[in-house]
Amino acid sequence: MESFSLSASGSITKLSSFALLLVVLFFCSSFTSTEAYDALDPTGNITIKWDVISWTPDGYVATVTMYNFQQYRHIQTPGWTLGWTWAKKEVIWSMMGSQTTEQGDCSRYKGNVPHCCKKDPTVVDLLPGTPYNQQIANCCKGGVLSSWVQDQANAASSFQVSVGAAGTTNKTVKLPKNFTLRAPGPGYTCGPAKIVRPSKYLTADKRRVTQALMTWNITCTYSQFLAQKTPTCCVSLSSFYNDTIVNCPTCTCGCQNNITEPGSCVNPDSPYLASAVAGPGKSSNAPLVQCTSHMCPIRVHWHVKLNYKEYWRVKITITNFNYRMNYTLWNLVVQHPNFDNVTQLFSFNYKSLTPYAGLNDTAMLWGVKFYNDLLTQAGPYGNVQSELLFRKDQSTFTFEKGWAFPRRIYFNGDNCVMPPPDAYPWLPNAGSRPISSLLHSAFTILSSLVFLLAFA
Ligand SMILES: *[C@@H]1O[C@H](CO)[C@@H](O)[C@H](O)[C@H]1NC(C)=O
Ligand SMILES: *[C@@H]1O[C@H](CO)[C@@H](O)[C@H](O)[C@H]1NC(C)=O
Ligand SMILES: *[C@@H]1O[C@H](CO)[C@@H](O)[C@H](O)[C@H]1NC(C)=O
Ligand SMILES: *[C@@H]1O[C@H](CO)[C@@H](O)[C@H](O)[C@H]1NC(C)=O
Ligand SMILES: *[C@@H]1O[C@H](CO)[C@@H](O)[C@H](O)[C@H]1NC(C)=O
Ligand SMILES: *[C@@H]1O[C@H](CO)[C@@H](O)[C@H](O)[C@H]1NC(C)=O
Ligand SMILES: *[C@@H]1O[C@H](CO)[C@@H](O)[C@H](O)[C@H]1NC(C)=O
Ligand SMILES: *[C@@H]1O[C@H](CO)[C@@H](O)[C@H](O)[C@H]1NC(C)=O
Ligand SMILES: *[C@@H]1O[C@H](CO)[C@@H](O)[C@H](O)[C@H]1NC(C)=O
Repeated sequence: MESFSLSASGSITKLSSFALLLVVLFFCSSFTSTEAYDALDPTGNITIKWDVISWTPDGYVATVTMYNFQQYRHIQTPGWTLGWTWAKKEVIWSMMGSQTTEQGDCSRYKGNVPHCCKKDPTVVDLLPGTPYNQQIANCCKGGVLSSWVQDQANAASSFQVSVGAAGTTNKTVKLPKNFTLRAPGPGYTCGPAKIVRPSKYLTADKRRVTQALMTWNITCTYSQFLAQKTPTCCVSLSSFYNDTIVNCPTCTCGCQNNITEPGSCVNPDSPYLASAVAGPGKSSNAPLVQCTSHMCPIRVHWHVKLNYKEYWRVKITITNFNYRMNYTLWNLVVQHPNFDNVTQLFSFNYKSLTPYAGLNDTAMLWGVKFYNDLLTQAGPYGNVQSELLFRKDQSTFTFEKGWAFPRRIYFNGDNCVMPPPDAYPWLPNAGSRPISSLLHSAFTILSSLVFLLAFA
């Protein structure tokens, strides 16, 4: 009886993995849509606003501001890169608070030479410490843009641009086209510029309102599928009630393969480590990961630590396996039904996210400033940890069927791959395995479907 049910469940699992593979293949091959949709941040976007603040003899001066309206996705060092294509033969006479990466061919100008004559300029932020006479408010942060929840005051980035050979009235000015936002890698898709109601400004004494001569907005959205071909983060699980540590699925983010890809990873005790860290790829920000079975740069470990009468306790550890990356202002988004009643959180900041009214199972966690807001490169200090205390709701609380484990985890806005539910640590003497395994397999397929649909 026992062996029969086990083998039955085994073949069901195999069948469902096969079905899952089919589902994944189907979605990956048939949807090349780049439209982004994130179920936990449905309106998340970066909006770029151009305010024309004065007309000049041959064009205009505009203040350009990027607002990161994404709840938990930020842009970290080395920062954003913004590009566009001019509609006509516009040039940039000068900029404040940012610069173009190339000047281009300005040979048709004599005397006064523009800052940039390229048809498709690429703009980067200036670095902190820029002389004051080249700064404007909200500039010069090296392209770093905080997320809306984590640090609203630093979720905007501005520069000023003086455009020549352009229209000089709101009827003749032509909007720039084909905006590209890189962070600095791919992932964002920007829509067309749209003329909107002119921005209004309150003067410092709050007694007068002025307004832009003309304003247009561009909205950019993020898609993880555009940003990276493989996952970058995985989840491992353990509990006090079972000795098994469920590791990240093997090859989640890649496989160790020294034959076709030598040096795809390094061991911490390898004598090549130092030279590899400084070696080729350093400038491209290509990750250099420690050799693990999962090969992910980031692993999030969720340990169900203690069970009290009215509370239960979880320990979260985030480990960095990338020797080439210090994660500044990192954040974690976790979905678990008990986040409606988290009682205490040690050494992380916390905010409940409610993407939809009534949904209260999602939380954003991030480091405490100057204490653990920096997740340093792989090595002995490359981890941060915290403990969470949840209050039990006796009607829903259970250690059975993996209820105590998270439903979904994002690190810096990117999905972390979970182990398959039928591998979760069980309670000793857990009830009939085949049925729960069958249910779990169905759940896997369903949740993958939902996940893929959400991104498709
Ligand atoms: C961008 O985000 C803001 C703030 O959440 C929202 O009000 C706006 O509707 C969003 N824009 C788009 C085009 O989704
Ligand atoms: C252009 O300016 C005129 C008045 O100067 C105004 O009536 C019109 O709405 C403006 N058009 C745009 C697109 O801003
Ligand atoms: C838009 O920009 C991309 C990348 O810079 C370029 O490949 C593409 O040709 C541009 N499209 C137009 C219509 O200019
Ligand atoms: C344009 O962008 C600004 C700043 O992000 C925002 O306040 C405004 O609502 C946007 N306008 C429209 C019509 O989306
Ligand atoms: C792969 O190569 C790196 C150095 O090139 C070495 O440290 C590592 O141990 C190798 N991994 C395997 C599985 O052989
Ligand atoms: C990370 O930060 C440490 C300490 O500030 C520094 O020594 C190290 O070079 C940094 N690593 C990277 C990859 O930037
Ligand atoms: C959601 O959870 C937070 C934090 O526990 C709480 O303050 C808030 O009242 C809850 N909202 C709803 C609608 O339950
Ligand atoms: C949190 O738990 C307590 C005790 O079970 C309960 O009274 C309270 O309503 C819960 N709060 C939420 C937001 O569910
Ligand atoms: C712990 O969980 C694993 C599944 O991950 C299971 O194989 C094992 O039997 C469980 N141990 C006990 C003591 O129940």
